[in-house]
Amino acid sequence: MSSESLFSKLTAHAKEYGYIFQSSEIYDGLSAVYDYGQYGAQLKKNIRDAWWKSMTQLHDNIVGIDAAIFMHPTTWKASGHVDNFSDPMIDNKDSKKRYRVDHLIEAHAATLSAEDGKQLIEAMEALLAKDDYQGILSLINEHKIKCGISGTCNWTEVRQFNLMFQTEFGAVASDNQDDNIVYLRPETAQGIFVNFLNVQKTGRMKIPFGIAQTGKAFRNEIVARQFIFRMREFEQMEMQFFVRPGTELEWYAYWKENRMKWHQALGIPAEKLRYHDHAKLAHYANAALDIEFEFPFGWKELEGIHSRTNYDLSRHQEFSKKKIQYFDNDLNPEGKPYGNYVPYVVETSVGLDRLVLTILSLAFKEEEVPTAEEGKTDIRTYLSIPAAIAPVKAAILPLVKKEGLPEIANSITTELRKHFHCQYDEKDSIGKRYRRQDAIGTPFCITVDHQSKEDEMVTVRHRDSLIQERIPIKGLTQYLQKAIQG
Ligand code: GAP
Repeated sequence: MSSESLFSKLTAHAKEYGYIFQSSEIYDGLSAVYDYGQYGAQLKKNIRDAWWKSMTQLHDNIVGIDAAIFMHPTTWKASGHVDNFSDPMIDNKDSKKRYRVDHLIEAHAATLSAEDGKQLIEAMEALLAKDDYQGILSLINEHKIKCGISGTCNWTEVRQFNLMFQTEFGAVASDNQDDNIVYLRPETAQGIFVNFLNVQKTGRMKIPFGIAQTGKAFRNEIVARQFIFRMREFEQMEMQFFVRPGTELEWYAYWKENRMKWHQALGIPAEKLRYHDHAKLAHYANAALDIEFEFPFGWKELEGIHSRTNYDLSRHQEFSKKKIQYFDNDLNPEGKPYGNYVPYVVETSVGLDRLVLTILSLAFKEEEVPTAEEGKTDIRTYLSIPAAIAPVKAAILPLVKKEGLPEIANSITTELRKHFHCQYDEKDSIGKRYRRQDAIGTPFCITVDHQSKEDEMVTVRHRDSLIQERIPIKGLTQYLQKAIQG
């Protein structure tokens, strides 16, 4: 299957089987906003829970918080988002369509030979690194890059466009409109920074320690059509790790490795992941990289790891006029306490929706299987989602709807439900029921047949290998627990 065909089949499948819907679809949708259906929401929750557990439960020096989406507007002045959170954009004068210049140039580079495409991207990166927007416009004109809608090269200047959404707070009108402006947070990280002292003091946290958070973030992206890869409302899972100045690069190396291992433990093959060091560092960062995944539309950022120095806490200290420092009474090599300082920060920031897309694009499979009719084959479509994060873990299927089989299947369902998300299904032929479970990615189908009444055993069918085993009903819970963890 070509990558393009995989991607279009995957998006259609995600909709047809209750994973992901276009937002407000009955009104023709809202651009770059998506809703998760019954299976998508559970998959997303399972991934979020795995992240939360790995951060907060498996590290005794990381705690989790849940800060509000609305924050005092000064937060975003201090963080630099009001002045700098913008992307260089260009408009086509004929179609009026706006593009992010890097997306426009990257799309054009993909149509060139590998060598020419690489040269174009390198030229663009060099210009962007210098904020040379005149140079970028010349590059677009030189390569005669056209608008996909009007087909013309009639471009405006390159301009910066702020990505934050604004809204108004409260009912009181003010002469100065700016007084009421609040932003929908474009990242969750600032909710962690402004709570640094609250958490450090109430949790008696000792450096090095981390604060983790998951939650919605909003960006007014100028969107290329990439499904849930780039959305206007999305969810982040971020962790800020506060460290003693001078140790940040060691911790950066630690988190770089730790996060790569986490993705692999989730079931993403190592060869589909790579590091990409940032060519241009933000002025406050002293190291930064992306963990990239090979999506059906190419290698793209899945997670960012940034060594952000003490920039954020220092800026909040300056803007709030409150001292945001830590007293470190550990002894330095001269035998004296390290004393007061503004901690340095290493950040890990991963997009939950991008992880859902990663898992789905790895999971979507089509395979030819023989049918009951001799010499004929059929296509079996299934989602090979790792059992630990699959939305439904097991389906319990009586072979027929009579002769006591539904009663046995129901009692198995009642027992298994205490431990796992399960479905009981007695409608249609067993073959059709298997297909339905394959399509939503259920790793185990448990069939109750006539023999089950005699030997108190059932058949467990494995989604990926199609292997079938006879397992005693009594031992099913432990069997599934082991198989899911494995
Ligand atoms: N606090 C740092 C930060 O927000 P970022 O690289 O801008 O860094 C982190 O975002 C992660 O959030 C990205 O690696 C990506 O997975 C996810 N992300 C960013 N913008 C997104 C969008 N528009 N739609 C979906 N996910 C997005």
